[in-house]
Parts: sequence; structure tokens; C-alpha cells
Amino acid sequence: MSVETSRALVLEQFGTLPRLVERPVPKPRPGHTLVRMLASQVAHLDLNVMDGKFGILPDLPAVPGTNGSGVVLASDIHPEGTLVRVNGKGLGLRGDGCWADHALAPDAAVTPVPAGTDPALACSFFSPAGTAWAAVHSVAAVQPGERVLVTGAAGAVGSLTVQVAARAGAEVIGVVGRAAKLDHVPAAAKAVLATEMSTEAVGGPVDVVVDTVGGPVLRDTLPLVRPRGRVALVGYTAGRELTVDLADFLLADVSLLPVNLMTRGREVAADAERLLTELTAGELSLPIERFGPDRLSEAVERLRQGTVVGRAVLDLA
Ligand SMILES: NC(=O)c1ccc[n+]([C@@H]2O[C@H](COP(=O)([O-])OP(=O)(O)OC[C@H]3O[C@@H](n4cnc5c(N)ncnc54)[C@H](OP(=O)(O)O)[C@@H]3O)[C@@H](O)[C@H]2O)c1
Repeated sequence: MSVETSRALVLEQFGTLPRLVERPVPKPRPGHTLVRMLASQVAHLDLNVMDGKFGILPDLPAVPGTNGSGVVLASDIHPEGTLVRVNGKGLGLRGDGCWADHALAPDAAVTPVPAGTDPALACSFFSPAGTAWAAVHSVAAVQPGERVLVTGAAGAVGSLTVQVAARAGAEVIGVVGRAAKLDHVPAAAKAVLATEMSTEAVGGPVDVVVDTVGGPVLRDTLPLVRPRGRVALVGYTAGRELTVDLADFLLADVSLLPVNLMTRGREVAADAERLLTELTAGELSLPIERFGPDRLSEAVERLRQGTVVGRAVLDLA
């Protein structure tokens, strides 16, 4: 790679895949940090942006990628060479994101991470760790001894939610959609297949559901929750809609609560960073699958099919 040019995945039209091109390295400017990217997540949010199906979209052409990590090349506030993660402040949403060798990120979107952190972990821990923490503690307020059912339990958010809920003293049931994923549910949970989900199969009513899947999976979990129980909704990959019979809803007396990391990110940041230390130490686990930028289409396809185990990360090193 020459000093002046840099590889970037550029989206030219919504509903298509970005093209890998060479383009000039972004010019440093005040209020922004130039980062040599080392790794970048391919997440459902990025797919929604690529599909033109998110509430905030960039003008095209644009580089997608809402979460990345790399090394500071030029900045007014971060020393050169600092390992950082970059996300937020509209990165990959209102303008160019992280699917490139270089990203020019607003200073406020750049956060140092401990030196020596695996760049793939650095770019991918915050969303699942922050969301898992927010779901278990801030939203569902899980108490020791409660029974918590987590859907998508082999996914990035789901597997960390299982681990965080178990540490909160809960008895955890991890639900997966495919038999091949049963073995990927963290050992802290009893693993159950979604098609076999019943009050009996999960060992009786649960106090809390953390649903990372949505659609029919969310619908099927509701009858498993005890009256006055809580359902924390994290994601809707399997479907954006839920039809509720209001009479049944009142009778069931179960609260459906949204988990929104965008509004809670600051609140859970310290907890997510503590979880990073434990992930690095191997005390918690977050599965990661790595793809070269020339294998973006494979990463996107596998993510759409739901066959990625954990986080999909572009290796840009
Ligand atoms: N609310 C927030 O602030 C917030 C923050 C972070 C993430 N999220 C959302 O939370 C969800 C989970 O995120 P994640 O990073 O854990 O994703 P992930 O690792 O890809 O896990 C998603 C799981 O959903 C299941 N699934 C069911 N139907 C699917 C389909 N049609 N396509 C793909 N997956 C399907 C899969 O599990 P099975 O094979 O077991 O069915 C998959 O493991 C995503 O929708 C993401 O956008 C929300």
C-alpha cells in the first residue's frame, strides 16, 4: 500500500455490496482523528445501512462500517500510535465509516483501548458487552436466583448476555435457532432449540427474557414468562413486527422493554470496558470470525443467513 492511497469498501447504491477500491488517504482536519484501521465489524446495523433500511443513512457514495479499531496516525488529542476503537458520532451512518484502511473519525468517536488488545476484539466488544450489560442490569434488572431466557444465545450479544446474566446470579436458558449452534451456547446456560421451546422444556416459567432475535421467536417466548416478568428486546433480525392481542397482553401482565445502546451507551461504557478486560483475560468469551476485505460478500451472506458464530470482523491489518 502506498502512503497516498488506501483501500476502501465504497457503497455506491443502497441494496448492493460495496466495491473494494483504492482512493486517497483522507486528509487530516481539525476535530478529527486519522486512524489506520486494523479491524472493523460487519454487523446487522451495517447491513441495514447497506440495504438503505435504517433511520439514518449517508449520502452515497460512502464507506460503511459503524465500528472499527486501529492505530492513531494524526490527531489533536490522541498520541500517535495509540490503539483506539472508533464508533458513534454518525460514523458509517451520516458519512464514511470504518471499512477502509484509513478512517477520519470525529475526535469524540475515538476511544483509546488498552495497548495489546486484539484489534478484532477492540472493534467488536463494545456493542455486545454494552448491550448485554444494559439488557441484564439497566433494563431487565435481573436479580440473583431469577430465571433468564436468552434467545440467539450463540450470537455475539446473546452469548455475552448469557454470561453477564449468569454472573448476576441468574439461572440461564440459552435458546438457539439451529441445532448446529447448541454447542456454541456458553456453558453457563442450559441450551435449548427454539423449535422445542416450551415451559416444560425450559424447566418452568421464566422471570426474564432477553430477546436478540425478534419476530416469531419473540412471540413464542412471551407465554413462557411469569406474570409481572420482563422481556428486554434487543434485536429483530428474524422479523420487525409483533402482533399483540391486547386482552392477552393485559392478562399476561408481562412488560416488553426496549434495549437501546444508542441512548444507553454512555451509561454502560465503564461496565463494557471492564468486560473487555475480562474478555482479554479469557474470563469471558466472545466468538469472532475474521474475514479479509476481499471476502466481505461472504461475511455479509453468512450474517444474513445467521450462520456466523459471534462477531464477523474484517481484518484490515
Ligand atoms: N438494541 C440495541 O441497542 C442493539 C445493540 C447491538 C445489537 N443489536 C441487535 O441485536 C441483534 C443481535 O446482535 P448480534 O450481534 O448478537 O447478532 P448475531 O451474532 O448475528 O446473532 C443474531 C442471532 O439471531 C439469530 N437469527 C434468527 N433469525 C435470523 C436471521 N434471519 N438472520 C440472522 N440471524 C438470525 C441467529 O441465531 P440462531 O441461529 O440461534 O437463530 C443469530 O445468531 C441484531 O439484530 C443487532 O442488530 C441491538
